[in-house]
Amino acid sequence: MNKTESKQAGSVRVLFVCLGNICRSPTAEGVFRAQVKKAGLDDRIEIDSAGTGAWHVGNPPDKRATAAAAARGYDLSPLRARQAVSEDFEQFDYVLAMDEDNLHNLKRLKQGGKASPELFLEAYGSLSAREVPDPYYGGDEGFELVLDLIEDAGRGLLRAIQKQL
Ligand code: 4NP
Repeated sequence: MNKTESKQAGSVRVLFVCLGNICRSPTAEGVFRAQVKKAGLDDRIEIDSAGTGAWHVGNPPDKRATAAAAARGYDLSPLRARQAVSEDFEQFDYVLAMDEDNLHNLKRLKQGGKASPELFLEAYGSLSAREVPDPYYGGDEGFELVLDLIEDAGRGLLRAIQKQL
């Protein structure tokens, strides 16, 4: 087996999903990209994010999410919103929902495929929260909480994937 084949055989694809794909899931994408890069696994783990809703398709992340992430060293500026599609369950190994509503909508969207949608924090977080609260209609502190919860669960997810690779 050559190097390219072995890399493909051992690669993992992760999709983070929220409602609008402009606050929580792009934050998760940016944070997890940085965690994966720091671990030297950016050639083994592919990362994307999507929304269950279509309102913000094509838009960059919310300015508040981008600013809060940038203050912790994460760059969300290249990201653009897209809507989750049923094919995502074929393409991705992990489909990780930010809250129960997202999880419910993903279960309805799934027609087949290898990935089973999970609640990101419940599956991989070490803190007591099960959901990443929607920060859209709240203040700046909501975006800090989003980052705290996602940084923690991202570390748990990375450990789980490292065992599998
Ligand atoms: P997200 O936040 O799901 O974390 O991207 C939201 C963004 C937009 C809306 C709701 C939540 N919205 O109602 O437009």
